[in-house]
Amino acid sequence: MVLIILFEMKLDAILTPAELPMLAKRDLRDTVCVVFDVLRATSTFVTALHNGAKAIVPVSEIAEAVAIRKKQPDALLAGERDGIRIRAVQTGGIDFDLGNSPREYTPEKVRGKTIVSTTTNGTRALRACVGAKTVLAASFLDLTATAQFVAKLQPGQVLFVCAGTRENAALEDVLAAGAMAEMLATSGGAGILASECQARQHAGKMPALPVEPQSPDAHGVTRPAWSDSVEIARRVYTQAKSDLAAAVRTSENAQRLRAIPELRDDLPFCLQRDIFLLVAKLHADGAIRPV
Ligand code: MLT
Repeated sequence: MVLIILFEMKLDAILTPAELPMLAKRDLRDTVCVVFDVLRATSTFVTALHNGAKAIVPVSEIAEAVAIRKKQPDALLAGERDGIRIRAVQTGGIDFDLGNSPREYTPEKVRGKTIVSTTTNGTRALRACVGAKTVLAASFLDLTATAQFVAKLQPGQVLFVCAGTRENAALEDVLAAGAMAEMLATSGGAGILASECQARQHAGKMPALPVEPQSPDAHGVTRPAWSDSVEIARRVYTQAKSDLAAAVRTSENAQRLRAIPELRDDLPFCLQRDIFLLVAKLHADGAIRPV
């Protein structure tokens, strides 16, 4: 039964921030939104939760973050503008506690803490998905764990939301969306459940299940269960997957980070694959916590 449902799942993607406003007009009630801001917001949020942070509250504006801090004095203020930690001159007097480098979010700094974060693209993309059935913040750091969680949810639609850089598409986000689409869309996708199924079959807990092919349309064409935006992301990923670091090195945000000595090492950090088993979900109260 599981694998049959798997093939009814449709995949779509938003590749640029310019498409975000359209989300407000979309019916997302049966959609799982997977938000990628590989450099660096979602990578940072997943790292903070792995290191014991209680929750991350993503907000769009600096003023919103400061207002929450006034109500929750124990909360940490975090975020960036132009990649750099937000300072008193931008807030009317309060220096933020953290920037947006995942390497700053150590267990010593974040364990048990609520972190209110505002970034240029990542937090806006997360906020734009409110109203969806499920909203996940994902990265390369926890890609497979998140893909497995999505596969188990069996939603009608999965929407990859690439946060981008400023108003532009971000290559690293499209690559991450392509990587996850690859897992979910191809036998690899079925493989995610299949490997689990095999484990259970091995344990004698599940019968072997057939795979139902897609039915051809009126023109005899079998349309994949994914949009052209997803196909673009998959093809870009397929081309780059043998050396992601080389592919991302020249992206707009990668170049910015490489030009700032203290942020340069964020690039290799954020391109690590599956170092965390954590799945980060945006809950109805507006906070991101582990699933
Ligand atoms: C963003 O949200 O725009 C990025 O995460 C910015 C950054 O960290 O450089």
